Amino acid sequence: MALRVLSVTSELHPLVKTGGLADVAGAPPPAPAPHDIEVRSLLPAYPQVLRKIGKARAVHSYKALFGGPARVLAATVNGLDLLLLDSPALFGSREGGPYSDLTGHDWADNWRRFAALSAVGADVAAGAVKGWQADLVHAHDWQAAMTAAYVRHGRAPETPVVLTVHNLAFQGRFDTRIFPDLGLPPSAYSLEGVEYYGGVGFLKAGLQYGDAITTVSPTYADEIRTPAFGMGLDGLLRGRGDAVQGIVNGIDTTEWDPATDPNLASGFSMRSLGTRGGNRRALEKRFGLKRGKGPIFAVISRLTWQKGIDLIVDAVEHLVAHGGRLVVLGSGDSAFEGALLAAAARHRGMIGIVTAYDEPLAHLIQGGADAILIPSRFEPCGLTQLYGQRYGTIPIAARTGGLADTIVDANEAALAVGCATGLLHEPGSGEALKAAISRAIALYWAPGVWLAMRKQGMRADYGWERSSARYAALYRSLIDRSPAV
Ligand code: ADP
Ligand code: GLC
Repeated sequence: MALRVLSVTSELHPLVKTGGLADVAGAPPPAPAPHDIEVRSLLPAYPQVLRKIGKARAVHSYKALFGGPARVLAATVNGLDLLLLDSPALFGSREGGPYSDLTGHDWADNWRRFAALSAVGADVAAGAVKGWQADLVHAHDWQAAMTAAYVRHGRAPETPVVLTVHNLAFQGRFDTRIFPDLGLPPSAYSLEGVEYYGGVGFLKAGLQYGDAITTVSPTYADEIRTPAFGMGLDGLLRGRGDAVQGIVNGIDTTEWDPATDPNLASGFSMRSLGTRGGNRRALEKRFGLKRGKGPIFAVISRLTWQKGIDLIVDAVEHLVAHGGRLVVLGSGDSAFEGALLAAAARHRGMIGIVTAYDEPLAHLIQGGADAILIPSRFEPCGLTQLYGQRYGTIPIAARTGGLADTIVDANEAALAVGCATGLLHEPGSGEALKAAISRAIALYWAPGVWLAMRKQGMRADYGWERSSARYAALYRSLIDRSPAV
């Protein structure tokens, strides 16, 4: 019989997205065949979600859920079965994003919003939606992590829960005063429960209560068990022993296919790389770059310290002085936005920036640039290096987390064997980034080398098959040892 998985997430592409979590939560689920897994995803019915889903039917309702009436709606989008938490008080129309207002401040009631999402997750796991009983819950990040606590203290406490950590930096820490309103028994406020450094920790609770903890690459799974990357949780993670593992993300190779991508000016494949030039010209035009033969470097990123954007700001003079051009698509920290806009003004025709979130433009950049810069200080998995490789845009990235696991550095051995797909450099170092840019420019001009690397990346298999098999095996192992089944 199919194994039924309830996935709980705060974002899901193509309905609502602030980063890679949405892509992963919206990925084609482990297909029914060969794994025989049936996934339903629960997420908040934000206004933009309600606008996009079309028909939906109510499958459960609450008179009062954390202070207001709410319903659970069922809908199908892009072949994904969805359950939507429709709570006007918590997820209704607001000026801003899913987690914060227009000035970037977190919504003050985030604890209530995501405790509600998690509590509903546990209700669904316990059979609240007639005709659909989950065998296992898979929660993503701090916004859904409390599902594990509600399951454990709820009506189906034996249901196995997997928690995936997409980024340990976002932990959902709140004042201890919220505890009485969470609806958990007093015993849950303990070291083994939700208590975290004298407050309430949502992610911490999930790490504690989850039967299995996964993160999105093997290297990040190792890193977060060290004080340097553990962000205060490394001790707890080490204590969980074998329950913690890394499973690298895949990408949706249908949505990200350079041969059929409607966002490209000109489609291409490995055998028709000549037509890729149409995208390069479209990029030059869109970003106001002077036409030229030299390499176009790209950045597609949240503009934050994690992503090493300050290192890029420091490296732009070097990049331009060595004949590179740069296109940036990003939004986030206003200081970084300002610094990049200033660099673009200083180097008109060589640097172009769009400070927005623009999904079609992200595709065009991947299809037209030569290299993508990802100097992250830490990177749980990273997806832009995978999209880049599939589209022939070579990643230049910090050797950390998923970047280290998915890029073969163009060192002498890899060049000799013919398996290099990118360049890796020491994380957090401006000098290392500049050296990598110089190295890339030299490889770009070396006859045949760039083209060979481009093809090696395009040939690589970054689809979901292998990782889906690992999730399926993990689900089965938890079900097999669960007394409930
Ligand atoms: P993170 O989730 O930490 O932001 P990832 O590399 O895992 O990093 O995922 C980022 C996702 O967001 C990718 O799909 C990338 O294409 C997309 N993205 C980032 N910034 C932008 C932007 N400004 N416009 C469009 N897409 C963006
Ligand atoms: C997070 C991480 C990123 C990862 C994504 C999807 O946003 O920062 O590295 O790729 O989640 O798992």
